[in-house]
Amino acid sequence: MDRSRDVRDRTKKPIFPADFQWGVATSAFQLEGSPNADWATWDPVLGDIPQITNHFALFREDLKLLKELGVNAYRFSIEWSRIQPREDTWDGEAITHYQEIIDILRSYNIEPMVTLHHFTNPRWFLERSPWHRFASIEKFLRYTEMMVSTLRNVRYWITFNEPYVILIGGYLDGCTPPGFRDVPRSLVALQNIFTCHGKAYDLIHRYVPDAQVSVAHNMSVFAPWKKWNPLDRLLKKSANYFYNHSIINAFRTGVFIVKFPFSREVEIEVPIKGKLDFFGVNYYTRVHLRFNPFKKMGVELRYADIDGHGLTNLGWEIHPRGLAKVLRYASRLDVPIIITENGIAAFDSEEKVKYMKRHVDIVERCLKDGLDVRGYYYWTLIDNYEWLQGLDARFGLYRVDFKTLKRSPTSAATYYSYLIQSRSKI
Ligand code: BGC
Repeated sequence: MDRSRDVRDRTKKPIFPADFQWGVATSAFQLEGSPNADWATWDPVLGDIPQITNHFALFREDLKLLKELGVNAYRFSIEWSRIQPREDTWDGEAITHYQEIIDILRSYNIEPMVTLHHFTNPRWFLERSPWHRFASIEKFLRYTEMMVSTLRNVRYWITFNEPYVILIGGYLDGCTPPGFRDVPRSLVALQNIFTCHGKAYDLIHRYVPDAQVSVAHNMSVFAPWKKWNPLDRLLKKSANYFYNHSIINAFRTGVFIVKFPFSREVEIEVPIKGKLDFFGVNYYTRVHLRFNPFKKMGVELRYADIDGHGLTNLGWEIHPRGLAKVLRYASRLDVPIIITENGIAAFDSEEKVKYMKRHVDIVERCLKDGLDVRGYYYWTLIDNYEWLQGLDARFGLYRVDFKTLKRSPTSAATYYSYLIQSRSKI
């Protein structure tokens, strides 16, 4: 580790409040698969690695890692297809399993944040009532009610992880289930998913009056590939509006105004006005946009190492300043902000250390500027399965040997513990 950086950190006056949430985030399917999930058969790679890190059996040991790190918050997801493997079957043992996770976290003084939906669906749901069908609303709410009425001691709830990514992957690009490229269906799915959020918000508050509920929204910074090209600039403007601002406006007004480039504007009403106790922001990168008539919707995504911080294992640009930008956008909502994911895929853990430090520095600056940021969750605890990329992305603070399933700390784990201690007010 670079010692000069340590010394500089220690001499800084801590400014993170004592109750700031220092966490890590995970998702169930990415750690442990699930035989009844739609993704289990969607990506052929999963046929060879059905249990991935086998976290489902090894969770007690993995939760000890959280204690070792010294985090005070943990975001994890419930795998819907384990709770409800068939539409008419609720699996009591699976519910007990998640309750045990919560109980262990509480015994460690770690605040649980539960994500109800992190990309995967039970297979029966996808076959019968995917998100563009009206029936999806009732199915999701039944599952939500089962969870909030049975799980004890959870205050923080995320209804959907990255609803826009579900829509883009599943309904516009077609690379994720249900695999459509269909704008009208994507708009119906958007309405159904956000209707679920609005109704789930009320349901959660009915059972847990002091609950804190949000979505975890993926935010990115966009730039034109060539500044001189008006079409690239138009794409940048549309993407920034749609990806970052349309959801903020919808939570303020109850109306989504969707305007894709080269098509007419659509207004969609959704019952979500004010249905947000904090705003969960997932931030990773900046995306350059290039007009290309041969690509879907005329858009080509590009990444370039403009700041000189490098690219990640997935080829994404490392752009810490962008975090400040999206946090400023998010502050328009006038609710506290929690960074529900931020992390890097890298083989070299020193790259992780640098990434983490640069982004936490930005959070610190935003706090000084008066933004109401209440937490930072690093993605992710241990190496896992990355959607459509397999096992090589290496986002973990702990490295997993996928042959022996042994977990070993990287220097980023040590650094995160140190950062938590040195940056927090006592
Ligand atoms: C998702 C995670 C994913 C991470 C890295 C986030 O957008 O919520 O599931 O692993 O990005 O790609």
